Amino acid sequence: MPELGVNIDHIATIREARKTWEPDPVWAASAAELGGADCITVHLREDRRHIQDRDVRLLRETVSVKLNLELACSEEILRIACELRPHQATLVPERRDEVTTEGGLDAVLHRAAVQEAVERLREAGIATSLFLDPDPRQIDVAAELRADAVELHTGTYALTQGSGRDEALRMLVAAGHQIRQSGLALHAGHGLNYHNVQPVAALEGMRELNIGHSIVSRAVFVGLGEAVREMKRLIDSAVR
Ligand code: PXP
Repeated sequence: MPELGVNIDHIATIREARKTWEPDPVWAASAAELGGADCITVHLREDRRHIQDRDVRLLRETVSVKLNLELACSEEILRIACELRPHQATLVPERRDEVTTEGGLDAVLHRAAVQEAVERLREAGIATSLFLDPDPRQIDVAAELRADAVELHTGTYALTQGSGRDEALRMLVAAGHQIRQSGLALHAGHGLNYHNVQPVAALEGMRELNIGHSIVSRAVFVGLGEAVREMKRLIDSAVR
């Protein structure tokens, strides 16, 4: 059964809109856990636009499920990750002018930086995942660098309709196969919602789905615990 990682960055986005103390992502993590989250995911961005250092520190102390920290290959953030030692770190690309993470990490182009990051995280005892497009060359690098997992970027699948979506799903299937054949754990995320999650959850060997925007959006109306429960039900019924 795939695990559900609930990305709570947007709780911090609301807080930062007023530069105040509420809503607190630490409360959100507890509510998500009560709703059945298997993992809490946060992205500590270099520009600190949502999650702050204090959030990661407190989450490290309070989250009782897996804590997954998304980060760019940045010296400052890597140092924080190695100090706080979340259970898992997911390396993502980061541009200051982007609205959200656009596209996967280019592990081919930035191989040296990715290699150094994976090695430092591994030495700190942190499992590493690389957020990659479903591109065989990128997955080859993940295997060569001995990452623990690849999180497939599902943005193209999520954004396209009709036959374009079928083709995007075929690419995810092929990439998933390559990831598992390479001995890495298969994760996926980005743009997944209550309407499109099931075919991705049903990919063979899927281990972890990271979902943020759609769950936080639904939480506005039904509460975070219920929003997580509904997503868990969809994931579970997709693989039964
Ligand atoms: N996985 C990664 C690596 C991400 O960067 C994000 C967005 O922060 C997500 C998953 C979640 O994407 P969404 O908010 O679209 O569900």
